[in-house]
Amino acid sequence: MNKFYITTPIYYVNDRPHLGHAYTTLLADALKRWQSRRNKKTFFLTGTDEHGAKISQSAKKAGKAEKEFVDEKANNFKEIWKKLNIKYDNFLRTTNTRHILAVQKAVQYLKEKGFIYKGYYQGLYCPACEQYKVPDDLIDGKCPDHQITPQILQEESYFFKLSQFEKVIKEKILSGEFLILPEERKAEVLAFINKGLKDVSISRKNVSWGIPLPFDKNYTLYVWIDAFLNYLTGLGWLGLSGQKPDFFPPDLQLMAKDILRVHATIWLALLLALKLPLPKKFFVHGYFTVNGQKMSKSLGNVIWPEDLIEKFGVDGTRYLLLSSLSYGQDGDITWERLTEKYNADLANNLGNLVSRVVKLDQKSKIKYQKGISETKNNEIKKLFEEIKPKEILEKIWQEITFANKYIEEKKLWELVKTNPKKGKKVLNEIFSLIFEIANLIEPFMPDTSAKILQQLQTKKSQILFPRIK
Ligand code: MSP
Repeated sequence: MNKFYITTPIYYVNDRPHLGHAYTTLLADALKRWQSRRNKKTFFLTGTDEHGAKISQSAKKAGKAEKEFVDEKANNFKEIWKKLNIKYDNFLRTTNTRHILAVQKAVQYLKEKGFIYKGYYQGLYCPACEQYKVPDDLIDGKCPDHQITPQILQEESYFFKLSQFEKVIKEKILSGEFLILPEERKAEVLAFINKGLKDVSISRKNVSWGIPLPFDKNYTLYVWIDAFLNYLTGLGWLGLSGQKPDFFPPDLQLMAKDILRVHATIWLALLLALKLPLPKKFFVHGYFTVNGQKMSKSLGNVIWPEDLIEKFGVDGTRYLLLSSLSYGQDGDITWERLTEKYNADLANNLGNLVSRVVKLDQKSKIKYQKGISETKNNEIKKLFEEIKPKEILEKIWQEITFANKYIEEKKLWELVKTNPKKGKKVLNEIFSLIFEIANLIEPFMPDTSAKILQQLQTKKSQILFPRIK
């Protein structure tokens, strides 16, 4: 299929976008750009999750009406994505009227078909996660993410028949029809499903900031159902079962491990109930920590993307973030290490390569030839399929290091004077290599890529990345 639909989670608006959110969204942007370059028709969806008790509480705390609060917060996300040169195709907000109407239509259908029924729920509820917890999730009786002791919540409620889909979901995961990367995450989901999937409560009685259930206005819809359907409404879906919008299903859905389980169960079950195809692939990345600690506002160690941009520039930030998590692992960030990496990889390795060769040759026409071997290119292509941005960048940087070494070995700056013919030949090789490198880095650093290509053409050397302290 010649299309590529990629999604990020829609982020809660009670948080200011931090580098964790930025990572997922940048990764989506880079993968979309890569697929576009391969002539795929691409669609990249992101957005914000704006309903629920927690958001309503945050609005009250800020002394604002919910609508005003979410408008402002959603804008913060849009602004920072713009600064980071992230080019999404749609930004879906769950307070959007069309989304709400489609969600209501879908929920009405699920009720009519018997996938939603009324029952009674009692469970351990973590208000910060907006999720019921099972005892196995807790550490010392507390939610491990929020250090809150979940309270027993009892209410009459509507349920979604998740249990009914247990077998099919398991089969689809086992058969590989639907992929979860990395493998360990897939194993984790299967272990979770093997314990048995219970029906989930999908209505809330005392939460007014949400989508009213179309068949019982005393309730609003559980935020996760509202949120999952964004992956459909973001493509213009009107809430009808069996009606697949253009680009659906997602070819790739990105998320961190915090929200994998709900995606791999409730989201898939919703699709099965709505007679829609399942996504092809989930890619689940790790968490960022700062100096070995979880990033959190209370610890005061949150790194904001704006701070990174101020120090490293847009492409510097894009490069540093996308090269910082190893496949499936958590990754630790320190300002010292980021600065070192920026200076070594960008200011020195890449920056020097471009400026020194551009300075060496002011007039001759370049005859582009093959620079990077077919094998290397195929390796990079494979790494893109496997969603390994850090490893891709390492591969590209091997080429940059090679090019610099080659210049040294050939003493190119002397060669162009002592043996202009030979010098010209080597220069041509290096220019060709740089040309290919500039193309390869485009998904990660679009502006830098364009600047390098421009310098190759105009032979006007400009500093790409100034050294910083
Ligand atoms: N609103 C839900 C998602 C609904 S999707 C249908 C939600 N929002 S969230 O704001 O908490 O975003 C979670 C996501 O943000 C993670 O899955 C990940 O993509 C990103 N990250 C948030 N913190 C992160 C780190 N510390 N490290 C890496 N990614 C992080 O859950």
